[in-house]
Amino acid sequence: MQLEERPDDRGLKKRKGAPGQVDCMLDERPRRIIRGSPMPDVYATISTAPQETQEMLASILELRAADPPQREMLVAYTSRLGALRDADVLEVGSGTGPVCRFLATLPGVRRVLGIDPSPVFVQRARELADDDRLTFETGDARELTLEDGSFDVVVFHTSLSHIPECDRALAEAHRVLRPGGRVVAFDGDYVTTTVAAYENDPLQACAAAAVAFLVHDPWLMRRIGQLIEAAGFSELDVGGHAYTSTGSPYFLTLLERGSDVLVENGSLTAETAAALKAEAGARVQTGTFFGHIAYVSAIARRRAR
Ligand SMILES: C[S@@+](CC[C@H](N)C(=O)[O-])C[C@H]1O[C@@H](n2cnc3c(N)ncnc32)[C@H](O)[C@@H]1O
Repeated sequence: MQLEERPDDRGLKKRKGAPGQVDCMLDERPRRIIRGSPMPDVYATISTAPQETQEMLASILELRAADPPQREMLVAYTSRLGALRDADVLEVGSGTGPVCRFLATLPGVRRVLGIDPSPVFVQRARELADDDRLTFETGDARELTLEDGSFDVVVFHTSLSHIPECDRALAEAHRVLRPGGRVVAFDGDYVTTTVAAYENDPLQACAAAAVAFLVHDPWLMRRIGQLIEAAGFSELDVGGHAYTSTGSPYFLTLLERGSDVLVENGSLTAETAAALKAEAGARVQTGTFFGHIAYVSAIARRRAR
């Protein structure tokens, strides 16, 4: 499979802003990708995606949330928040709402609002909501229509890596938090995504394509500390998580989407992609599938006045 260098074209310049403000796109290293024209991260422009694409992704989000190791990571990082009291919680980029539904079960949570640009996701989130204290609205992380200082906790659960100019999203999180409130960013360190069982395993091309084409900024979590501090937060607490799969349906959808992208951009024939999908399925059947992604969580506090 041919590889070529593509210059990173995603806003590398430092934008004018508050002193010390750091743009998300600090990493100037070119990304190696499989040949073919780059495709944008569908989540980054989700509200313009076809209805059927949004519906397909809605199902995948629920599939991922039902994956026990994914749930364990959610439980682990939220436990670092400690005791909450009458907390108003906001999830930015809430998708179909599984994280909001979990957050509403935490002791001391008064209400949870989920914001997402996709009307399809928001509608699904409302249908799945199982608690009166849950509400969902359409909105953009970079321009929240919410009052200053109106939340105690703002969560980004695997959304920040999909949001272009995520420094604007962090600035908005800072604005809507009360003094002393906490921001939480949890996301994949997606460049670690691997399904390779041995050197030059051809299945890895599907994982690499999924990361290159489906995540706006797969390097984001390597800079999360500096981004959060540049947004004005303090008391930074960063932790690591490992997601290992022996063949969860979610991991297989990731490979399927990666191989579909390779067909769409002309890197693979449909027959080769079908063979790779069959190979992934066969590994699950024979107990030889291995998938791994490292995740990172960061929690910080808006300074008390
Ligand atoms: C991988 S999904 C995560 C959804 C949800 N947090 C979960 O874990 O199930 C990324 C989410 O970020 C949302 N998103 C993308 N751009 C956004 C933006 N500018 N503002 C807010 N959310 C955005 C997408 O619509 C999508 O729901």
